[in-house]
Amino acid sequence: MKTPLMISLTLLLTACATPETRTVTQVEPAQPKQIEETRAVAKALGSQLGGKLKEAMTASGPAEAVSVCKNIAPQIANDLSKQTGWSVSRVGTRARNAETGPAKGWEAEALASFAARMKQGEKPDTMEFAEVVTDASGKHMRYAKAIAMQPMCLTCHGATDSIPEGVRARLATEYPLDQATGYSAGELRGAVVITRPL
Ligand code: HEC
Repeated sequence: MKTPLMISLTLLLTACATPETRTVTQVEPAQPKQIEETRAVAKALGSQLGGKLKEAMTASGPAEAVSVCKNIAPQIANDLSKQTGWSVSRVGTRARNAETGPAKGWEAEALASFAARMKQGEKPDTMEFAEVVTDASGKHMRYAKAIAMQPMCLTCHGATDSIPEGVRARLATEYPLDQATGYSAGELRGAVVITRPL
């Protein structure tokens, strides 16, 4: 049986929970300046990582470059997140890193919209998604920049039988849940995703 105290506690808890669940998420377009600033950070991630990757592929070969990718990619993303105070990461249409790679919520929606836009003939190189959202956690910008497969990516993300044996062995050990193979050049691979408090 519920005592009056328990009933009033229940009412109090319900009353506290209500504003949170009732908060209407407001979505507005991002300002050109906000997009420009955020794009610059997404581009920095792409170019810093691309540079390190090419360097490692040439210097030590693709099998060693797997470890570089494993360690350097999250490090660059973390450094950029620290520098900006935003959350900067990469997601895939299929994930290699089962923890950080899968696209969640709005990120998955952004990827789906990129796929639809590519079907309409839009090129992935300049494709981006941006919106400003207000929800229970405040006002923030969501930004995604499409990542397309380039020929050099295929060494590690192409058809399984075209991936060098040494790379395949490394991937099997480091990423037993890897789903990020079987891509072809030009295909949508994923996105740089940024959440920026405003
Ligand atoms: C030397 C092998 C190698 C090459 C070459 C390579 N990648 Fe990857 N890729 C990896 C590894 C390893 C990971 C997982 C990194 C991690 O653990 O965060 C990864 C992860 C990713 C992710 C993050 C999402 C996920 O699946 O976890 C994206 C996006 C991605 N790669 C795109 C590319 C693109 C685009 C290229 C070409 C410019 C490329 N990769 C070239 C090995 C490679």
